[in-house]
Amino acid sequence: METFTIEGGRPLSGTLRIHGAKNAALPILAAAVLAEGQFHIYDVPHLKDIDVMLQILTALGATATHADGCVSLDTTSISISHVPDDLMGQMRSSIFLVGPLLTRLGEVTISRPGGCAIGERRIDLHLNGLTALGAKIEESEGYIIFRAKQLRGTNIFLSFPSVGATENIMLAAVLAKGTTRICNAAREPEIIDLANFLNAMGARIRGAGTDTIEINGVARLRPVSYRVIPDRIVAGTHILAVGMAQGHIALSNTIPEHLTALIEVARSCGVEIKAYHDIMEMKCSNRPRGYDRIITSPYPGFPTDLQAQLMAFLSLARGTSVIKETVFEGRFKHVNELARMGASIYVDLGSAFIRGVSRLSGTTVEATDLRAGAALVLAGLAAEGTTVVEQVHHIDRGYERLEWQLQQLGASIARTTA
Ligand code: UD1
Repeated sequence: METFTIEGGRPLSGTLRIHGAKNAALPILAAAVLAEGQFHIYDVPHLKDIDVMLQILTALGATATHADGCVSLDTTSISISHVPDDLMGQMRSSIFLVGPLLTRLGEVTISRPGGCAIGERRIDLHLNGLTALGAKIEESEGYIIFRAKQLRGTNIFLSFPSVGATENIMLAAVLAKGTTRICNAAREPEIIDLANFLNAMGARIRGAGTDTIEINGVARLRPVSYRVIPDRIVAGTHILAVGMAQGHIALSNTIPEHLTALIEVARSCGVEIKAYHDIMEMKCSNRPRGYDRIITSPYPGFPTDLQAQLMAFLSLARGTSVIKETVFEGRFKHVNELARMGASIYVDLGSAFIRGVSRLSGTTVEATDLRAGAALVLAGLAAEGTTVVEQVHHIDRGYERLEWQLQQLGASIARTTA
């Protein structure tokens, strides 16, 4: 079991380059199945979920290497249509492979997808979308089998702008016959990145980043080289870290527009933020102010993936703050752990009411999921004394060596393997 040991109370300083976005890289790697040949994909972070995706692609017949952030992937020999059960169970994003494999091989078998334990994570919108495109879906003994000779474009309305379902439908529609229109599509930057990647391969996708995406099916796609966008959630985590631990840092390889909602909240709370080109500089030298009411919602709203870290930040702010989580039910597992460090938080009806305290105290806490884990690390940076964060493997799903990143910024944090 690996843990982080953090000595709190040190202001942060220095510069850090933000790594590529996991949530953009995963569907992009799945998209590579749609063409035969050699891809080079840059700025792919070294994370557990990426490793699992590369292991799955290898099990399906591809060859893949991942060194210094570059994935070299040869998809020529993909011929297996059954995603291995143990790998499927380890990562929900393996669902992205369904569209590409179905298009390429005409049949796919998966077991029900796994992933972080944050509320009920259904896949009905993925299944409805694929059915609308002409896939026949059969469920038997824990497996889902998809079959289709040729997918056909159609209009698909999403009852919720699901990121994964929007991406999955895009992946299935690029080589379908005719035009697909996704209405109420998700607008996350990672959707635009996937569309840019597919268009570079020869796809015809318009409207990514708006709520209507139109995909004109093409006959074939070609392999390309591509660089993944920076991870906005990692950058956002460091902005909140400075707000909590205080100090003055600069982040490079960022796209500030992707963080508009967080920047707005952090600035109102007293964090000074400047952005120029791909650099963001932030400074905080006083205890932040609370924020009246934040509601997580699909992009461009406040991201659910920064909700836990924001809660840690607000737990030390002056005054009372309210956070309402609307994207994932049950994404409040960090509340109890923050309370063990001295935070005063009360949860009712999907909202957290946070009464800011003047100090947190280090203790042993457990990372229950990826973002909850990041929130506890931030709390540890600002707390008095020593904080030990257990179950660090959850954090490793989304942050490439978070301890190293924070060490670059002067934090006292070490990884220990028991
Ligand atoms: C993606 C991100 C994740 C982020 C989330 C919301 C990746 C790999 N992961 O996850 O980090 O927290 O977006 O920004 O990109 N839903 C259904 N039926 C479905 C699909 C989703 O009801 O078929 C519901 C979910 O239960 C959830 C909500 O829609 O309540 C949002 O899910 P979705 O946008 O699909 O998130 P993911 O793509 O899983």
